[in-house]
Amino acid sequence: MNKSILKVKVRAYSSSANLGPGFDVTALCLDAYCDEVEAELVNEKRVRIIEVEGEEGISKYRNTAKYAVDELLRRLNVEKGVNLKIKKGIPIGKGLGSSGATAAAAVYAVNKLLGSPLKPEDLIDVAAYAEGKIAGSPHADNVAASLLGGFIVITSIKPFKAISLSSPKDFKFLTVIPNIKFGKRKTERARKVLPKYVSFQKFVKQTSSLAKLIVGFLKENEEMVGEAMSSELIVESSREKAGLVPLYREVREIAFKNRALGVCVSGAGPSILILCKEYSKKLESELKKLYNEEKIEVEIKRAKVAPGAHVI
Ligand code: HSE
Repeated sequence: MNKSILKVKVRAYSSSANLGPGFDVTALCLDAYCDEVEAELVNEKRVRIIEVEGEEGISKYRNTAKYAVDELLRRLNVEKGVNLKIKKGIPIGKGLGSSGATAAAAVYAVNKLLGSPLKPEDLIDVAAYAEGKIAGSPHADNVAASLLGGFIVITSIKPFKAISLSSPKDFKFLTVIPNIKFGKRKTERARKVLPKYVSFQKFVKQTSSLAKLIVGFLKENEEMVGEAMSSELIVESSREKAGLVPLYREVREIAFKNRALGVCVSGAGPSILILCKEYSKKLESELKKLYNEEKIEVEIKRAKVAPGAHVI
């Protein structure tokens, strides 16, 4: 007889969305940080976050994990409730998919408790709904990366669907994470500064870069990925102008001078993602010096491609 589980703990990793030309469409799951969510099925028909560990000031109510699990139970007509304990390892508001990873871990865990009625692919739309509650408009890139792992491509917007195309284990990334706080609703603000219209010429160039990015990942060709991720034309400059990615130009200059293969804004910023041929202490120390001279604390973390959400 199958013994049903009442409690489960799941890990989901951080992610870098957009990767240059793939705004809202491509993302990469990275092992820089991870969140853990423990879910327990209870009889009271209510979703409650009973503990948050690891980050100050996280709401137990306006939280993607709660929104996502509420939505999952609603879609599956479940007459039970869930208690959630969240261990935050991913810094919030830095463009590393923190809220998406919590939502991903939470729905993965609850789906498991319910006997896995949905496949991880089918959880993307549920978790993206929760992201939408926080970011103003739903987007699925971060949640898809945290759920599926590797390099993901969004293949449908309504409902959200995605596939994980490759997980090049030898690609070496640096995540540059400045300690700048833009306050609540940063992603919403970062989406409001985007242009409403784009010239046809830019559209064609950007599409070509996105194609190169996807082919680069499929072929696990890091030079191609590096070139593609560095050639964004529409989103990054608007966010840079709005002050959401301080020192971006300078970081690019230092990175390329030190033979980096590619540089892009991580998600909505302010973090920056660098793809390196080899890790270089010189590059890392020059980057630290740059931020320190501007009196900005910075964390520089090496990262590799990470797997999707899983039970621990
Ligand atoms: N694709 C989204 C954006 C990711 O850039 O707005 C933010 O989490």
